[in-house]
Amino acid sequence: MSKQETDRARPMDRQQGHEFQAFGQMTHRPIALAESAAKQSVENLNQVLADTMTLRDLYKKHHWQTAGASFHQLHLLFDAHYEAQNELVDAIAERIQMLGGVCLAMAPDVAETTLIPRPPKGREEPPVQISRLLHAHEIVLKEARSMARLAAEVGDDGTNDLLVSDVVRGNEKQAWFLSEHVVDVPLVKAD
Ligand SMILES: [Fe+2]
Repeated sequence: MSKQETDRARPMDRQQGHEFQAFGQMTHRPIALAESAAKQSVENLNQVLADTMTLRDLYKKHHWQTAGASFHQLHLLFDAHYEAQNELVDAIAERIQMLGGVCLAMAPDVAETTLIPRPPKGREEPPVQISRLLHAHEIVLKEARSMARLAAEVGDDGTNDLLVSDVVRGNEKQAWFLSEHVVDVPLVKAD
């Protein structure tokens, strides 16, 4: 076998090239939607994507770091909410791409964009963990509701539906599950 034939098996790794679509640049998709509407939705969805990724990761941090008598319950609850947020992340990012935009993806870019305050690296008590998560949910809910209205105004019903049916309703439900954990009812003896 000649050297040239042997080299055909060699993986062509370490390739380099140029980006073919810059972040912030729109491409046209044949989806019968005005490009100005798609652009507005892409910008808004990237904000809610950064905040949803941050909220998702906050759940995993708390899943790992929680403590106390409610350890097992919170450990499982935080992970269930993490999984649901992770599905939202995928749905939001894919909607940005299908609208012709470019989604945020990497942690440093997300950290630059999110409106959710950065938590400390160390462990916090469960009521503090829950308060931090509730605050993050409110940030997402507030922006998602106003972005949903803006999407409906410009005729982007798909984005409106994603924001209302999945982001708003999902976050409202998770906020309910969390907030019931910080209601001060007796555990053993009734008042
Ligand atoms: Fe785990």
